[in-house]
Amino acid sequence: MEVYATTHRGLEKITAEEIQELGGKLKKYSNGRVYFKCDEKLIDKLNYHARTCERIILLLKSTKVTGLEDIYNEIKDIDFSFIRPSESFAVRSKRVGVHNFNSMDIARVAGDAIIKSYQSSAEKRLKVNLDSPDNIIRVELIHDLLLVGVDTTGDKGLHRRGYRVYQHPAPLNPTIAAALLKISKWKPENILVDPMCGSGTILVEAALMGSNIPPGHLRECEKLQFDHKLKIMGIEKFRKHVKGCQETLSRLGIDFIKIKQGDAEHLEKYVQEADNIVTNPPYGIRVGRKSKIKKLYHNFLKTAKNILTENGSITLLTPQEKILKNTATKLDYEWTETPIIYGNLPVKIFKLTI
Ligand SMILES: C[S@@+](CC[C@H](N)C(=O)[O-])C[C@H]1O[C@@H](n2cnc3c(N)ncnc32)[C@H](O)[C@@H]1O
Repeated sequence: MEVYATTHRGLEKITAEEIQELGGKLKKYSNGRVYFKCDEKLIDKLNYHARTCERIILLLKSTKVTGLEDIYNEIKDIDFSFIRPSESFAVRSKRVGVHNFNSMDIARVAGDAIIKSYQSSAEKRLKVNLDSPDNIIRVELIHDLLLVGVDTTGDKGLHRRGYRVYQHPAPLNPTIAAALLKISKWKPENILVDPMCGSGTILVEAALMGSNIPPGHLRECEKLQFDHKLKIMGIEKFRKHVKGCQETLSRLGIDFIKIKQGDAEHLEKYVQEADNIVTNPPYGIRVGRKSKIKKLYHNFLKTAKNILTENGSITLLTPQEKILKNTATKLDYEWTETPIIYGNLPVKIFKLTI
């Protein structure tokens, strides 16, 4: 079967590695999509185990198109007889690039084409159910590339892990948190610190990863068996976030992660050593915040040097490339960078070493 996974643009390589590790045969990746071959069993496995994928889509057609009429004709040619006559469907559409129509137009045209195709092969008019369809057909137009597929994940993307008890104002997407951990190369035996942990997404993803608990376990409410020997710690400046984070951890039954209220500008006050610092600091993109961010990034990277072990590293995500690079240069760090698109914001993942 030809399948593709969606992820954040820039994370395709990380997602491709994850899919290969789980057994998929990689074909290529681009534009936040990773194309691979796999069987039906593996589709279920990926939906259950993948940490950095957003959705898994069974590819029905991939072709270049010039406009709406073309989209209609290409979809009308697809065989939709795998949908039972009693079942309903809905089209979910997405568009990337410049077009003189919107994604609603794509959904409308695609819906008509699916009904027409089914009528000519099964002589039956398929039912549309936009709220809870039996089959979700994904139609994506990435510039001039049309992708049509069956969404095997469903309307709830795989990033919706369902463990948040507390709503932080700027929570990190769990798939990105998992990708940060993969880029950091953190191993379960290493000491991990998130010094600006907010509601604790990175900490929870690490606890799951380090205990070999697939995200699907959470969705199916299975009993979670964490590895209580993991050495993970969080620091957060504001009490309400500390409390919120602790609520999420205790709901999950995680009692081995210590959260301290503290300041990432003075890490040695709270932590003796860390092998991996993985964090999602404030971005300060609102007006008037830049000088605060400069000071925070400078003091954080300076104090981090006092606790990092010999082969230690800092992995972080920020759109403040210039501030980060200037600070890292002044403090003699070396780094690698991975540009990604987070929402619509271009940000970079930096991995810093001494
Ligand atoms: C982008 S948020 C992190 C969100 C987190 N990854 C999550 O998923 O909830 C950045 C966090 O850094 C915290 N913060 C800001 N300055 C800090 C400092 N000097 N020391 C520790 N935490 C700080 C903020 O309160 C905020 O919770």
